Amino acid sequence: MALFAVPNIIQDLIPAAASESINPWTWNLNLNASGLYEYLPTMHALSKFALLGACAVQSVMGLPESVERREANLLKRNVDDWINRETPIAWEKLLCNIGPDGCAVRNQGVPAGVVVASPSRSDPDYFYTWTRDAALVYKGLADAFRRNYTEDLHTQLKNFVSSQAKLQGVGNPAGGLNDGQGLGEPKFMVDLKEFTGEWGRPQRDGPPLRAIALIRYAKWLVENGHKAVANAQVWPTIENDLKYSAQYWNQTGFDLWEEVPGSSFFTIASTHRALVEGAQLGAVLGKPTRAYTAVAPQVLCFQQSFWNAREGFVVSNINGGEWRRGRDANSILTSIHNFDPSAGCDANTFQPCSDRALSNHKVVVDSFRSIYNINRGIAQNKAVAVGRYSEDVFYNGNPWFLATFAAAEQLYDALLVWKAQGSIAITQTSLPFFRDHVSGATVGTHAAGSATYNQIVSAITAYADGFIEVASKYAHSNGALNEQIDRNTGQPIAAPDLTWSYSAFLTATARRDGYIPTGWGAGQATALPAGQCQKFEVAGNYNLPPTPVFPSNLTPAANAPVEQITAVPTGCTNPEKVFVTFNERASTSWGQVIKVVGNVPELGSWDVNKAVPLSASKYTSGDPLWSITLPIQAGSSVQYKYIRITNGVAGVSWEGGDNRAFSVPGATCDIQNRWDNWR
Ligand code: NOJ
Ligand code: NOJ
Repeated sequence: MALFAVPNIIQDLIPAAASESINPWTWNLNLNASGLYEYLPTMHALSKFALLGACAVQSVMGLPESVERREANLLKRNVDDWINRETPIAWEKLLCNIGPDGCAVRNQGVPAGVVVASPSRSDPDYFYTWTRDAALVYKGLADAFRRNYTEDLHTQLKNFVSSQAKLQGVGNPAGGLNDGQGLGEPKFMVDLKEFTGEWGRPQRDGPPLRAIALIRYAKWLVENGHKAVANAQVWPTIENDLKYSAQYWNQTGFDLWEEVPGSSFFTIASTHRALVEGAQLGAVLGKPTRAYTAVAPQVLCFQQSFWNAREGFVVSNINGGEWRRGRDANSILTSIHNFDPSAGCDANTFQPCSDRALSNHKVVVDSFRSIYNINRGIAQNKAVAVGRYSEDVFYNGNPWFLATFAAAEQLYDALLVWKAQGSIAITQTSLPFFRDHVSGATVGTHAAGSATYNQIVSAITAYADGFIEVASKYAHSNGALNEQIDRNTGQPIAAPDLTWSYSAFLTATARRDGYIPTGWGAGQATALPAGQCQKFEVAGNYNLPPTPVFPSNLTPAANAPVEQITAVPTGCTNPEKVFVTFNERASTSWGQVIKVVGNVPELGSWDVNKAVPLSASKYTSGDPLWSITLPIQAGSSVQYKYIRITNGVAGVSWEGGDNRAFSVPGATCDIQNRWDNWR
């Protein structure tokens, strides 16, 4: 199945003089049973030997710089070679895990467009579909598709849209689609039935990540003249996920590693991106976007509170999970998945080249240097195997392939932006990161062509390649990638053929290859709101997406883009709907929910089944505050009451007294606040 061409690897970094006569990667290629080639694992011994030889000769001649140069060239060639071999394998094996025809999952009840996390059915059982894994994998596929159109990949993307439209309607232990809560369910059976076992739920990164993946494809449709298709077939699914993001972003949930309930940096940043990019696409499709544009800056505001300025890293989990020290690949994944060069090296959006993200890269990578035996004795300026977080005990706590690739990807991203802007800025915050690699680096802006700039570019290129080399060293010799790498032996362990591992390889190496995915409007979304962060949550109404039907003529336009998608709408002018925040103080016990119901359609027209749930995200024992924001038709005369619902169903109790009443003003952009106490 040769669906994809192996990308050309950039050769421009090898100085001509460096060409060596020995090729340490003289692989023996053999076709194995599954048609994949295998190579002999002797390459490392060989390359190390060649390297030692080269060093010895050079130091006798007293030319230490050339030793470095030689070492870097050798590293680059080794990495080039491995990438060239691994790329078609990673493509093939990634697609093997997608239904219905993927080679590892076919005839096993996996519908089209469903990503199985790993074919492994025991130790660990990963034969499920996780919304996060699927979304990240499809985000990568959509970017690859935008780079290089193929019909097969197009079919995969359409399948993904259809599978997710259906999945959104599947009721599950996290809830249903009615109030959106079911969208926070982390995983499903591969046939899209609910998974009823105990699990860390909800996980609130799933909906924004899925929105981001679907938006990538919807943008392609718009740019290629198929806007009506984006509108009718893709937007309904995107919209549910965006509404979820705008409604539930300030409620705690489990982190991406499914272990700690709280607020997770990755989840918050993914939510920010989804809201911004959703507004960007929604504006082009003529959809209401104000909920997204109003909430997005507040999410970005909250995102800043994860930063530990004193130690220069992102505390990945707050409001829970503090028993971990917070140094976590969570944050490195955030920087690569929110990469957008239009934001330059912006720190608020945690761009890969921002001073914060680079300082964080160092702190997170360093946290793994001494804890894994396989990293022992590796110099501070060299790449090591990277795990999830140092306190991890899952399979004894090990390095992960996807985290190691992510560490490389962040650096490739940074290099792309530095080269594009022709300079590298070093601040006090990022100085320790740079000093590890260029000991004489100083705070300031170093222009392309300066000695410091050149030294940094070569050192960081080699450092980034080092992470790929580390992964290559521990990969199976036939190119297969597991989830983890044994911390003592270096053996690939835990879930075999983890789909996300292949995706992480492909996205990191695409960046190395110079491919920058289309942006998400980050450059227009870096500003923080004035004053304190406000944590309002906007209630959404959720609708089961119609079964997508794709016309057969969805081909690329000859003169694409026929329509540019750039502007991110801001604020609001003359809105038909006015945002009203209902704040109700009501002491409740576990399992009880406060809802608001009233005479206008937005408040359910007095139907308790359509009452709008308030959020308890600001509830404390000292201040039992429930609140929710929702758009109501300007000029409406509203009557309403709060109800208390116990354990979901039967028990509805109404507030006493007369109906509460107020008039919604005419079109205004100011949020109207109702402050009430249960009576
Ligand atoms: C526990 C692990 O730590 C977590 O990350 C994983 O998702 C679950 N087990 C399921 O494998
Ligand atoms: C465990 C990881 O912690 C989680 O992020 C992932 O979604 C599942 N495994 C499935 O790959």
